[in-house]
Amino acid sequence: MSGVILVTGATGNVGREVLRELIARGAAARAAVYNLADAPQGAGGVAEAVRFDFRDPTTFPAAFAGADRLFLMRPPAISNVKRDMQPVIDYAARHGIGHIVFLSLIGVERNPIVPHAKIEKLLRQSGVAWTMLRCGFFMQNLDTTHWADLVEADDIFVPAGGGRTAFIDARDIGAVAARVLTEPGHAHKAYNLTGGEALSYGEVAAIMTEELGRPITYSDPSPLAFARRFRRRGYPGGMVNVMLGIYLTTRLGMAAGISPDVARLLGRPPITMRQYVRDYAATFQK
Ligand SMILES: NC(=O)c1ccc[n+]([C@@H]2O[C@H](COP(=O)([O-])OP(=O)(O)OC[C@H]3O[C@@H](n4cnc5c(N)ncnc54)[C@H](OP(=O)(O)O)[C@@H]3O)[C@@H](O)[C@H]2O)c1
Repeated sequence: MSGVILVTGATGNVGREVLRELIARGAAARAAVYNLADAPQGAGGVAEAVRFDFRDPTTFPAAFAGADRLFLMRPPAISNVKRDMQPVIDYAARHGIGHIVFLSLIGVERNPIVPHAKIEKLLRQSGVAWTMLRCGFFMQNLDTTHWADLVEADDIFVPAGGGRTAFIDARDIGAVAARVLTEPGHAHKAYNLTGGEALSYGEVAAIMTEELGRPITYSDPSPLAFARRFRRRGYPGGMVNVMLGIYLTTRLGMAAGISPDVARLLGRPPITMRQYVRDYAATFQK
């Protein structure tokens, strides 16, 4: 394929890394950007950017013009798949997209109620070649969702008990996505993307303490205390419930599985938590 690769969620944790990797590979990548004022800078130059809104089909023609591959993600605020995601999949199928790489969720095959499962089903029915990137929990949740607690209180405020997580660095997801979008052999495959180690939050706090040079605690709040704090911060109730569900499954040991797919696809081990904390140290300074 020789057309443009359209990248949705291009200002987000993963989309920005997909874009960076595609530009580094010399691929013709186009950033589909919700707020054009936030248009991302690609490595080695400014990526072509176009306004795009999943909920506004009038933005589709300019975004898809000349594109033959799509990196598809579901913004966390979108839960109505039929109304807000199906139109873009239908449009892609009718307008020259030959391969869709979807940012999905690990364990989705056992969890038919999550939006990602519904999107995977639509992709299977779309007639377009697909690849599912079923990701574990991102390291970058620490420098986004949990950043305020880390910087203001030197604390990881997560109700996950002693449960372990095989955290993945979003940069590894970007590297995998760029390969899958530009190399043959990945159509109709689903990959499980995790890091190479499963850590408890106590262990993450110890790594952060060593790398940031100040004590970081893991306070393991009750689900109620967690919900209260995030509601106070303005998180919608639905999103807080999703987070509580994620941390409950972590507590139950369901986030600890390690997959070999990242190492196999990239030919190197996944980025470790220690490396992530080192690379993001400036973000965690007070
Ligand atoms: N966090 C995790 O640990 C984890 C693990 C596995 C899977 N996932 C899945 O990964 C996805 C989130 O990826 P992410 O963390 O890279 O995203 P993110 O950082 O939350 O960014 C969301 C992106 O979507 C854009 N956006 C929001 N509303 C839009 C709309 N109506 N139309 C077009 N674009 C819109 C945002 O643009 P603006 O910046 O302009 O608002 C932003 O670029 C979710 O589906 C989540 O379930 C997450």
